[in-house]
Amino acid sequence: MKIGIAADHGGYSLKKTLHSFLVASGYEVVDFGAYELNDQDDYPDFVIPLAKAIVKKDVDRGIAVCGSGVGASVAANKVHGVRAALINDHFSAHQGVEDDNLNMLCLGGRVTGYAAAEELVEAFLHAKFTGLERHLRRLHKVQLLEK
Ligand code: RB5
Repeated sequence: MKIGIAADHGGYSLKKTLHSFLVASGYEVVDFGAYELNDQDDYPDFVIPLAKAIVKKDVDRGIAVCGSGVGASVAANKVHGVRAALINDHFSAHQGVEDDNLNMLCLGGRVTGYAAAEELVEAFLHAKFTGLERHLRRLHKVQLLEK
């Protein structure tokens, strides 16, 4: 599975940790930046290219980190075809994929600790969309907003 990652300065440190964790876990990782810590950088500059790569299927799933995870999820969900959510608990990390076909996990680099973030990432990446009719029906109603 090919995983895209992105972060601004608020998520820079956690992204670095997750990059190593993903490589050690056997994933192919595409890093959309930031590539250096710059307190003046802006999360859309990294999150939007990652979101577009998900839609183009250049990567299978994405992980975006900003300070809180809020800005990253707001920005990513503007890109049609992206289903991003700020996740802080294990249940939502996998249920978001199983029911809602989540394709981008957003984390708060100033909120979630490294070990907890790794567990959320594992739950997100191991989960599969069930494809059940009721979930497809709900997603279809969301997709109509993208027309
Ligand atoms: C940047 O200081 C911070 O606002 C950003 O990383 C993020 O938390 C926005 O939601």
